Amino acid sequence: MGYIGSHTVIKLLEAGFDVIIVDNLVNSDKEVLNRLRQITGKDVPFVEADISDREAMDAFFKKYPVDAVIHFAALKAVGESVEKPLLYYKNNVNGTISLLESMIAANIKTLVFSSSATVYLPNNEPLKEDAPLGCSNPYGQTKRMMEIILEDVCKADPAWRVELLRYFNPVGAHPSGLIGEAPQGIPNNLMPYIQQVGVGRRPFLNVFGNDYSESPDGTGIRDYIHVQDLADAHVKAVEYLMVTPGQGATVHNLGTGKGSSVLEMVHAFEKASGKPIPYKVGARRPGDLGKVICNPEKANRELGWVAKHDMNDIMADAWRWQSMNPFGFASSE
Ligand code: WQD
Repeated sequence: MGYIGSHTVIKLLEAGFDVIIVDNLVNSDKEVLNRLRQITGKDVPFVEADISDREAMDAFFKKYPVDAVIHFAALKAVGESVEKPLLYYKNNVNGTISLLESMIAANIKTLVFSSSATVYLPNNEPLKEDAPLGCSNPYGQTKRMMEIILEDVCKADPAWRVELLRYFNPVGAHPSGLIGEAPQGIPNNLMPYIQQVGVGRRPFLNVFGNDYSESPDGTGIRDYIHVQDLADAHVKAVEYLMVTPGQGATVHNLGTGKGSSVLEMVHAFEKASGKPIPYKVGARRPGDLGKVICNPEKANRELGWVAKHDMNDIMADAWRWQSMNPFGFASSE
């Protein structure tokens, strides 16, 4: 029911799949169901449950013996994970173990996992899947631990088919403007923060450092991928698993291969929205890197997938969503 999951549901339905949503609503809003109905004309079945609840999940898989699971369910705030590591290890890692036990009990052994580029060690080169790994925060550690658990489950039982999708920086929104990223509280990520400045919810953007030598304007460079392209990749990943015999866990980086600096994002957003985005340059954010870019060749080749949306699409779709929904899925602050 969250940002990536809701956009993926639409693409799965458009590709002819039947979809059931399971979500504990800890970081998402049931209003999304109404928006999905408006966009697709379908009532997507929804079960409110926590993946850590064995009884609920066993009952779910009994009722819905699905062909595949796409696992988006995790806490994902880097800063919060540093303050509350046990919450993250318990929710993300234990939750995944419990989910896998329920899947095995139902003899369902096909899974697409939502992972992250945060598992890689700092590296200025466009990152391939074999780049050195090393996480600097508990959130990233949980992502890598979940990957390792899935790799070992595949080794123990070749009937498993697993896709590890390492996302770079998801941005943008569905072109209808009806769904998009709606972080709770103060946004951690750049684009939702810029969007909230654009609609007047925040006075200015804090730019975390402009002394990164890797960047032409000194501000951090990232590989921003439109959430619609990311959603497409999940459909391709499910299709890939359906036709690929158990070969252990396969890994694919999902990005565009292009980098944009913070100030380039600010200017692109101003152009698309017509709204000035005031900003103040401050200190670097601890743990931040100067440049993180994807090498998407493996996914392009093996999944038959390429990111199609450009920066104009990203900014136009992000602004349409935010200007139509200044407070996200809530009607007011
Ligand atoms: C992007 C750039 C900041 C906010 C994080 C997680 C990663 C993944 C995506 C879950 C950086 C700068 C940001 C702001 C700023 N999440 N920035 N002012 O850090 O690349 O990745 O989100 O999987 O795991 O680490 O994304 O959007 O936070 O930052 O200047 O208010 O924008 O310094 O250069 P990041 P981000």
